Amino acid sequence: MSYYHIKHLEEYFQVYRKSVRDPEIFWEEIAEEHFLWRKRWDKVLNWDFNKPEVKWFEGAQLNITENCIDRHLAAKGDKTAILFEPNDPNEVAVHITYNELYERVNRFANVLKSKGIGKGDRVCIYLPMIPELAVAVLACARIGAIHSVVFAGFSATALSTRINDAECKMVITSDGSFRGAKTIDLKGIVDEALETCPSIETVLVAKRINSEINMKADRDEWLQPLLDKASPEGEAEIMNAEDPLFILYTSGSTGQPKGMVHTTGGYMVYTAYTFKNVFQYNDGDVYWCTADIGWITGHSYIVYGPLANGATTVMFEGVPTYPHWGRFWQVIEKHKVNQFYTAPTAIRALAKEPLSHVEGHDLSSLKVLGTVGEPINEEAWHWYNDNIGKMRSPIVDTWWQTETGGIMISPIPFATPTIPTFATLPMPGIQPCLMDENGEEIKGNPAQGRLCVKFPWPSMARTIWGNHQRYKETYFSAYDQKYFTGDGALRDQTGYYRITGRVDDVIIVSGHNLGTAPIEDAINEHQAVAESAIVGFPHDVKGNALYGYVILKETGEDRNQENLRKEINQLITERIGPIAKLDKIQFTSGLPKTRSGKIMRRILRKIASKDTSNLGDTSTLLNPEVVQEIMDNVL
Ligand code: PRX
Repeated sequence: MSYYHIKHLEEYFQVYRKSVRDPEIFWEEIAEEHFLWRKRWDKVLNWDFNKPEVKWFEGAQLNITENCIDRHLAAKGDKTAILFEPNDPNEVAVHITYNELYERVNRFANVLKSKGIGKGDRVCIYLPMIPELAVAVLACARIGAIHSVVFAGFSATALSTRINDAECKMVITSDGSFRGAKTIDLKGIVDEALETCPSIETVLVAKRINSEINMKADRDEWLQPLLDKASPEGEAEIMNAEDPLFILYTSGSTGQPKGMVHTTGGYMVYTAYTFKNVFQYNDGDVYWCTADIGWITGHSYIVYGPLANGATTVMFEGVPTYPHWGRFWQVIEKHKVNQFYTAPTAIRALAKEPLSHVEGHDLSSLKVLGTVGEPINEEAWHWYNDNIGKMRSPIVDTWWQTETGGIMISPIPFATPTIPTFATLPMPGIQPCLMDENGEEIKGNPAQGRLCVKFPWPSMARTIWGNHQRYKETYFSAYDQKYFTGDGALRDQTGYYRITGRVDDVIIVSGHNLGTAPIEDAINEHQAVAESAIVGFPHDVKGNALYGYVILKETGEDRNQENLRKEINQLITERIGPIAKLDKIQFTSGLPKTRSGKIMRRILRKIASKDTSNLGDTSTLLNPEVVQEIMDNVL
């Protein structure tokens, strides 16, 4: 029996038991047989959730790009590694073979070195979904630089915050990006961000939309001429297993975004392992994940996991709606996609359109369908299962997080029987548990509580960049000796997990994690605003949308509310990005607060969701009268 590739349910249970009984032996065997190490580890696992400190494969040396590229060259050099499908369906798709990827990554790595980037330096990558993005990521990994990819939909302020937090030396960007029928001036956003980023020495600019842009002397350089001059050969930097591979920012319920730090060896082993099993990838398959590489899903399951398995991974530049609502299905037909991985919000949006967009396309290549990022509702699950999978392709509802690095709870297709809305069973090596309000683990089934993990796994984030204390407080302080996920979950009679949603102030809008604090800070910057509170409310496409309660300063002036709403959303767009805009803004004279001054978001959430049947006892509030006022004026 192979631990690496699970094919049946009985096998899963056997492997799972082994992974819990002998975790070190389990991961050691996988690491040994399926990866290329330059030096073997001294110890498989060292851990202490109190500190917290977790080290996998300590003492081992490797370079992840040798695992993702070099070792495939002999057998698969001419195989497509990355299949680039452009925004415009009339532009030709680009097949980048493993041989070509090797050369492109080396050229890029040599350019980085020539600009003074070395091991441990941070490089910010702010690029659209073009091949340069994947190549830049791998080029950093090749030379041991730490990449910090910032999703190219974030605003200049959000970008500069992230650059400064990691003290990046370089930004890699493009003149602009295509997004459906629109173009976005990325370089303009970078220029604005860099006004407040003293650590940046160089900006490399890829040409994508051929727009007129400003190139700052002594700082900005076009990428392509540098690549053309660089050597296509290069040695990979040998890294320790626990050296940082990348930083990726994620929102917290309070404060600035957290730079989650992922390290090299464990991350590689776990993302490759889960890719193989969750998607049942076989040689020759074409795999497509529609996420952006700016998110963890793209890091782990467009770049590292697939390439470590020598897979063909599709990179899609466009959007599901351009030039029509059938684009996803057209791409699946065109490239004969076998595994398709997307977000519930996309499925819900597509399910609203006439089925004729799907019907004209041959989707018979599909074998496995996946979802990620938020709970999938039953209706969307069935639509996906019936119309896309034709009831033949199992749906893997994969639960995980930026912090976990890889998929934690998911069916294994053709092995685990699926049930709509259930992420089902933990992956081998993952030991989830549910905690009650007294901090006790709930044993037995069924159960409902807060989802924690009680044993380390190889791809867990090791710290928050520059703030280990915050890492400890956020993830390891709520429950003794456990990693707390921030999610609630239930476990049914058979042990299947269903994720019920966040239990903190993080709101997931269209699959994007948004913390309330930075949005409220942006709103409060408006000169007319005294105070604000954001909550989520159910939305039939986005899953959740944002509802803002805003108290205006008393100036005696009568302000136009519609204009104020526009200005507030404009501020949010500038400070964070359009994804964080509010759907509804209600102006109010007060916010319900406890006597200690804490905003009662639970009440605001219920009112915004039009669910006021059980608001609980409001009489103990500091200002119970505002509850009625807010209810009377709800939007
Ligand atoms: O609330 C969970 C939700 O997304 C959160 C993690 O978001 P992020 O770090 O941006 O990573 C998203 C992609 C891995 C989780 O805490 N979430 C993710 N997957 C699911 C989910 N909720 C329900 N079902 C899922 N399959």
